[in-house]
Amino acid sequence: MKLLEVQSSVRLERSVSRSLSHEFVQAWQMNHSHAQHKMRDVGTNPPAHPTELWTQANYTPPEARTLEMVGVLSHSEQLIAELLWADCLLLGVPMYNLSVPSNFKAYLDNVVRVDRTFAFDCETFTLQGLATGKKALVITPSAGDYAPGTPMAKFDFCEPYLRAILEFIGIADVTVITVPNQFMPDEIRHQQIETARTKLMALAATW
Ligand SMILES: Cc1cc2nc3c(=O)[nH]c(=O)nc-3n(C[C@H](O)[C@H](O)[C@H](O)COP(=O)(O)O)c2cc1C
Repeated sequence: MKLLEVQSSVRLERSVSRSLSHEFVQAWQMNHSHAQHKMRDVGTNPPAHPTELWTQANYTPPEARTLEMVGVLSHSEQLIAELLWADCLLLGVPMYNLSVPSNFKAYLDNVVRVDRTFAFDCETFTLQGLATGKKALVITPSAGDYAPGTPMAKFDFCEPYLRAILEFIGIADVTVITVPNQFMPDEIRHQQIETARTKLMALAATW
């Protein structure tokens, strides 16, 4: 088993997604003794945003790319290789302004690439995800509560977006652990963390 952990909170010490992920990985490794684990921290080390040259390179067939194009895509290629290497993805993705952190979006812009992680047939208008055979576990804390049926549910562009973009590249087996109410008083906040921790510890044995 090969686990790629991607963290996107800009916080280190006080990050709920990072600390829960850390606990999960430790418990998961106890149950998967020969597992390999790689960490990609886009919260503190975000990939560059696409540029005009990057875009041109992306849509140029590999054999026709100039050295400059190859260079501008090299980090993206490294991130894609790492993603394709993994069987399991653990994604720490807090809600930022109703969606994913911009650092994580920059990561996605680098890994969701035509003919690398998805293919699109322009004649039949069909999409094919190329990052298949993987599962993903997402830990997503938020200040508010966006659970279905709550007044805030309609503002959630984080979980639905994550599910959609993962499915887009071929990953439909997605488990999302939300950690809501992180701006509430400590008692409520900690209760939510404990609920998430319990779910994660159960998953560590079975996932
Ligand atoms: C830039 C920024 C934007 C945020 N936007 C939202 C938001 O739209 N809705 C929400 O519920 N929480 C929002 N939050 C709160 C975070 O989701 C919350 O603090 C979460 O615990 C952060 O994850 P972390 O603990 O792993 O750092 C925002 C936090 C930051 C830093």
